[in-house]
Amino acid sequence: MNPTRPEPQDRHDDSADESSPTPGRGIPRTSSRAPEPAPLTVHGPARVIAVANQKGGVGKTTSTINLGAALAEYGRKVLLVDFDPQGALSVGLGVQPHQLEATVYNLLMERGVEADEVLQDTGVENMDLLPSNIDLSAAEVQLVTEVGREQALGRSLKRFLPDYDVVLIDCQPSLGLLTINALSCADEVLIPLACEFFSLRGVALLMDTIDKVTDRLNPDLRLLGVLATMFDTRTLHTKEVHDRVVEAFGEKVFDAVINRTIKFPETTVAGEPITVWAPTSSAAASYRMLAREVIAR
Ligand SMILES: Nc1ncnc2c1ncn2[C@@H]1O[C@H](COP(=O)(O)OP(=O)(O)O)[C@@H](O)[C@H]1O
Ligand SMILES: [Mg+2]
Repeated sequence: MNPTRPEPQDRHDDSADESSPTPGRGIPRTSSRAPEPAPLTVHGPARVIAVANQKGGVGKTTSTINLGAALAEYGRKVLLVDFDPQGALSVGLGVQPHQLEATVYNLLMERGVEADEVLQDTGVENMDLLPSNIDLSAAEVQLVTEVGREQALGRSLKRFLPDYDVVLIDCQPSLGLLTINALSCADEVLIPLACEFFSLRGVALLMDTIDKVTDRLNPDLRLLGVLATMFDTRTLHTKEVHDRVVEAFGEKVFDAVINRTIKFPETTVAGEPITVWAPTSSAAASYRMLAREVIAR
């Protein structure tokens, strides 16, 4: 994808990672019961997973890219949907959102748009992208007056489902119409929660929204799991927040925990998933562990 990308691997491994998981009391496990997934011989239809939390900066976009890339490594055919007008998912995969001729916006709002006009290569085998840019913010306004406004994304994604095993939708940080569209067409929702003081604030509202969507629009929607992100192994505070998340969500909390590391901002600059940028890092290992759990759940 990115011709200037430096090729040699493992230069970004984490022998000196500032927050490698250290075994010890109170640190979440770094291994999981989830087994190595069996390879697939046939593909599709996709399970659709919305990655949602109305709080910004909790790792939705980072988790969408890296869970997607890890699933792709396990041979799953993955479609990432950038459903945030900020286009951070697209940027994180080296796509320049303002240069795009067609985006998710066109799929949503226009008839006769071909899938190939919108689909972007991600440079990762088995993983494609439906990109977005600021045009999508207009869709949120225009959809309000449409019949079936909550199902617009579902209608647009239908044709892609037979070709993929997993569709991951990166939601915008709000509970507005775009996020409702994502929840309405998803089979499952994955909630990233940062291990920070205010992380649980607002989660009740998110759960309430998920309940309403389940009641009124999508009875099959279920909570896939809660992913603890931004875990800082050096602070007790992070551990306390993690304990509270486990208290609140129990078995729904993934064993995989994403540590806070500068590697993630670096991957954004590189336009690559962590599994490519630093394949041997513990951060890449964490997303692979998450991928195994997602496949097993
Ligand atoms: N585990 C992590 N450790 C450190 N920085 C992270 C981590 N995950 C994400 N980031 C950085 O934090 C910022 C917000 O993450 P992002 O995934 O964009 O959150 P969201 O999509 O929920 O707004 C980005 O700059 C990203 O690179
Ligand atoms: Mg985001």
